Amino acid sequence: MNGADRDVDDLASIPGGTEQIVICRDRASGTRAVIALDDTTLGPALGGVRWVAYPSEAAAIAEVRRLARGMTLKNACADIPYGGGKSVILREAGSATREQVMRGFGRFVARLGGAYVPGVDMGTSVEDLAVIGEVAPDVSCDHVDPSPYTALGVLAAIEAAASASGIGNLEDLRVLVQGVGHVGESLALRLAARGARVLVADVDAGRAERVAKETGGVVVPPDAVSSTPCDVLAPCAAARVVDERNVGSLPCRAVVGAANDILARRGLHRHLVERGVVYVPDFVSNAGGVIQIHAIRAGWDEQTTERAVLRIGERVADLLAKAASSGLTPLEAAEEDASARIGRKVEIPS
Ligand code: NAI
Repeated sequence: MNGADRDVDDLASIPGGTEQIVICRDRASGTRAVIALDDTTLGPALGGVRWVAYPSEAAAIAEVRRLARGMTLKNACADIPYGGGKSVILREAGSATREQVMRGFGRFVARLGGAYVPGVDMGTSVEDLAVIGEVAPDVSCDHVDPSPYTALGVLAAIEAAASASGIGNLEDLRVLVQGVGHVGESLALRLAARGARVLVADVDAGRAERVAKETGGVVVPPDAVSSTPCDVLAPCAAARVVDERNVGSLPCRAVVGAANDILARRGLHRHLVERGVVYVPDFVSNAGGVIQIHAIRAGWDEQTTERAVLRIGERVADLLAKAASSGLTPLEAAEEDASARIGRKVEIPS
């Protein structure tokens, strides 16, 4: 098969395909970007803007489509009226300022007429979204960082998973937080305040030391994350923390975190289940931020927002109960719930 014969769905294995993919080139600023709208059944596609390096445009397209699917599942499971989308800006050496890049990108978002609602993601900031929002009709995160609510949701998910699977109460747990940036630091502080023992790993050694000190915890070297015994491993840094090499030996009883794409490949969730390790799908545990985005747009007060984020804990308990009674894994049970809301089968890619 030559390049011209390749169907766009060959570029990534996304079950059910992607609703709309936009490949953008802003000649004025030299900006290249890809926007993927995975599914807009439940509402406009909500999802972040990444600005990181990709080896090629094809790699960026494959990644953005996969991430957009994750947003479809996340928003559906969180029961908020949004579909799933994601976008990436491809870093390019050039003379354009950051503001020019964001404006150039915003003009492409504007052309979608509100079908895509961008937010903060890796490599972009609240300030960037404010610039995009000057051009695009609708953006999220242009004033508020969602990370504290993401951390609150992860805390609720850890508590529910540990309790439902008999691992223990928060004060009995050793939780290894990988990555103590915006979400991980907030999570570590909340865990310590609730009596959990915190282990901290970060490639930024100074940051790890500081957070360990603040939480009365200990520092774990970043390369020892997958070999350090703990009750709960909470990935809050990079993707693909659970991979083929460590899935059979991770010395933890549950994996519950904020990072997207915790599994290097979908099938690994079965290995974890077979080893008796509880895996809470990342798109369920890390939904606190999108719930807060919806709350701001819907005009909810703080209390209502917090209650909605804490409901992630109830959702996790329900998923684990459903999994236990149906023979599904928690991931399959979550996909089934999202599919029922959307009205067709939706899965994360293999
Ligand atoms: P961040 O960039 O503020 O923090 C990431 C931290 O991880 C940094 O301290 C960095 O030094 C550290 N790190 C990077 N690679 C590492 C590695 N290999 N080992 C150990 N530490 C490492 O990011 P943020 O906002 O805290 O997000 C964390 C994760 O959660 C990301 O994967 C993000 O996509 C995901 N997420 C974040 C949400 C939010 O509200 N900020 C919402 C949903 C998902």
